[in-house]
Amino acid sequence: MKDIKITVIDREDVKHELDVPTDMNLNLMEVCKSYELPVQGTCGGMALCSTCHCYVLSDHELPEASEDEEDMLDQAFFVEDNSRLGCQLKATPALDGLIVKLAPEAN
Ligand code: FES
Repeated sequence: MKDIKITVIDREDVKHELDVPTDMNLNLMEVCKSYELPVQGTCGGMALCSTCHCYVLSDHELPEASEDEEDMLDQAFFVEDNSRLGCQLKATPALDGLIVKLAPEAN
């Protein structure tokens, strides 16, 4: 399987174009961390911390948020209609060309 491209805009509005493998079962939080972007991923991807909160700027059809993700987003700050938890988005070929922006840190 080939790599996909995902663009992550950090909190200083700097764009990072990432090459992301789709055969390693990575999620977007793990991808950001592997590129040393400022995403904490405190809960390790369990949808329990919202430190991987991001806004989806491209119009990709994404898998619906699970109940756990919805619950966590209900408690997160700065939530918008396009908010998602990065750790709940798997790097699959369907995400090629995705553009996300990191949400502000809550603390
Ligand atoms: Fe904790 Fe995503 S890493 S909610």
